[in-house]
Amino acid sequence: MGITEAWMLMTVLCAASASPPLLTVNLNTPPAERWAPLVELFDKQFLKQVAADVIDSTVPKWVHHAIIPVVEALAKYMPQHYAEEIKGMASYYGSETADIVLLNFAYEVTAFCTSIIAQDSKGNLYHGRNLDYPFEILKNATVDVSFMKDGKELYRGTTFAGYVGLWTGQSSRGFTVSGDQRSKGHWWENVIAAALKNAPASWLVRQTLEEAEDFEEAVMRLAKVPLIADVYYIVGGVHPGEGVVVTRDRRGPADIWPLDPTNGAWYRVETNYDHWLPTPPEDPRRAAAVKALNATGQDNINYDTLYQVLSIPPVCNRFTIYTTMMSAAEPEQYKTVVKECIQHGIQ
Ligand SMILES: *[C@@H]1O[C@H](CO)[C@@H](O)[C@H](O)[C@H]1NC(C)=O
Ligand SMILES: *[C@@H]1O[C@H](CO)[C@@H](O)[C@H](O)[C@H]1NC(C)=O
Repeated sequence: MGITEAWMLMTVLCAASASPPLLTVNLNTPPAERWAPLVELFDKQFLKQVAADVIDSTVPKWVHHAIIPVVEALAKYMPQHYAEEIKGMASYYGSETADIVLLNFAYEVTAFCTSIIAQDSKGNLYHGRNLDYPFEILKNATVDVSFMKDGKELYRGTTFAGYVGLWTGQSSRGFTVSGDQRSKGHWWENVIAAALKNAPASWLVRQTLEEAEDFEEAVMRLAKVPLIADVYYIVGGVHPGEGVVVTRDRRGPADIWPLDPTNGAWYRVETNYDHWLPTPPEDPRRAAAVKALNATGQDNINYDTLYQVLSIPPVCNRFTIYTTMMSAAEPEQYKTVVKECIQHGIQ
């Protein structure tokens, strides 16, 4: 994709801009109607533009035409409620359903990210993540979503208007999850794998937030359920030691890498490479984050200092769309900030 090379061309300072809007999705309403409040927050024309931009830059034109019947067939294989949500979304957008399905798959293959889970000296857990995509327009399409059931928030997450999956979220049952891309598979491989009934990685995040009873069950589900692509899941809980990076193959876990605070491992950093392998020299995000965490120290880690670690270049870079900070023990602290890049034009 050439993204990692591009990172190095420019020095970027990341400034916070605003928090995204908060959308409430009521899970007690039928799936096709759940996303109706979207149109109150986002202009229809803008939503259509986002879909067109992302699809045009991800899917070659000839493929776009060729894939429509495949995508229509695919709708039959998707979990019914997601298929219904996507159909509803298409009607609010005034778009073809096939395009909104495609959009949901296009997002699956373009996420570069940094996730950090850290435990302070008192045993409190902090989970932070940057989500990087090469589409500037997504900054304006970012939305926090509160998923309500029977009048209470069941889980909360951050996504893009039009996207039913979640790469970031917290459950009211005491755990937080973020996902980082692992393989650079082609999107059509994902479509084929989906037709074989594997789940998109971001749908599994949402499903886990919705259904898992606690941290342990969440980790088990995220480790085991077959997926359409490889991915890293970073999971945090409420009790000391509850933090883990799950490295996923399509079929199951490749590796489980928990916090080990009694032996000094009070944080785990995951970008987009297997933690047991060196990172490519042109993408030093992991080393930069580790260095900043070491400099911070376990006694000083908190929301603010972890946010600072996620804000230093190149951990934050010109593709960073948003940063989310969360801690399962304090769900009211969930906070997403859409990032603004101040570029220094140095080559
Ligand atoms: C996002 O919205 C702001 C404010 O409406 C606008 O100035 C900016 O151009 C938009 N950015 C993109 C990439 O659409
Ligand atoms: C960070 O600290 C760990 C544990 O003390 C150490 O193994 C590692 O080499 C340090 N890395 C950097 C870049 O400072």
